[in-house]
Amino acid sequence: MSGYANAAVTASAAVARKPVTLHQIRELAAAGEKLTMLTCYDATFAKLHDTAGVELLLVGDSLGMTVQGATTTVPVTLEHMAYHVRCVAAGNATAWVIGDLPYGTYHESAAHAYASARTLMQAGAHMVKLEGGAAWAVDTVKFLTERGVPVCAHIGLTPQTVHALGGWRIQGRSEGAAANLVAQGKALEAAGAAMIVVELVPSAVGKLLAEALTIPVIGIGAGKDVDGQVLVMHDMLGFTTGKLPRFVKNFAQGTESTFGAISAYVAAVKGGSFPETQHGYDA
Ligand code: KIV
Repeated sequence: MSGYANAAVTASAAVARKPVTLHQIRELAAAGEKLTMLTCYDATFAKLHDTAGVELLLVGDSLGMTVQGATTTVPVTLEHMAYHVRCVAAGNATAWVIGDLPYGTYHESAAHAYASARTLMQAGAHMVKLEGGAAWAVDTVKFLTERGVPVCAHIGLTPQTVHALGGWRIQGRSEGAAANLVAQGKALEAAGAAMIVVELVPSAVGKLLAEALTIPVIGIGAGKDVDGQVLVMHDMLGFTTGKLPRFVKNFAQGTESTFGAISAYVAAVKGGSFPETQHGYDA
């Protein structure tokens, strides 16, 4: 850790807290407190996010785009993910670390998924995330959770299958598609998933899901009526150039430091001022 990064953190009003547990995450969500998640790929940002009070650090395979410069997450490998999980775990003290299982590392069989999950858990993840809500994904979630691996499922727009989905399109727009997402969420919860990320769906569908499930539903482009929010850190810190999705807000605007921007995100999610209606989608 460089002196610069250390100074940024120690100068802040760091909140000392105990390591975040799954139990605590469930309790916060049940009490109606909004959960905060951000993507994170290295030790410096792990320390900043954690100190700012972000409860959930997602080592997302979005690093294929934000760090590696690819146009999708498809080229990311398990070795890449293990490296970044290790970096984040090294900088983190208390947040819950979620390691994304990348493309093609959990699809062949549940045993294959377990071997991939083991790599990320041994690199320092507390939970793994996998994309999909079809029967095979539900069976995989069951296999992993029965073996003690906490799983976060990811439904709606699933970036690893962006080519099959025909691009970065809003999911769950028709009544049938929305009902299908809710059915997937229920099946994943019954299989043991401890959390669900739902991406790029109408705000009403985010709400439906959060009402239908008892596990925390974390939205990205899913409106405000879910249990928590996640953004890609490069987007919310204004590092991403070009046209951004409407669900993104640049929290660096109006703040004087990176730590201030991350703290502003935490405050906005906790206080209910992010996302606003303008960040959501209609059916
Ligand atoms: O990889 C990632 O960063 C993600 C988020 C977009 C939820 O899956």
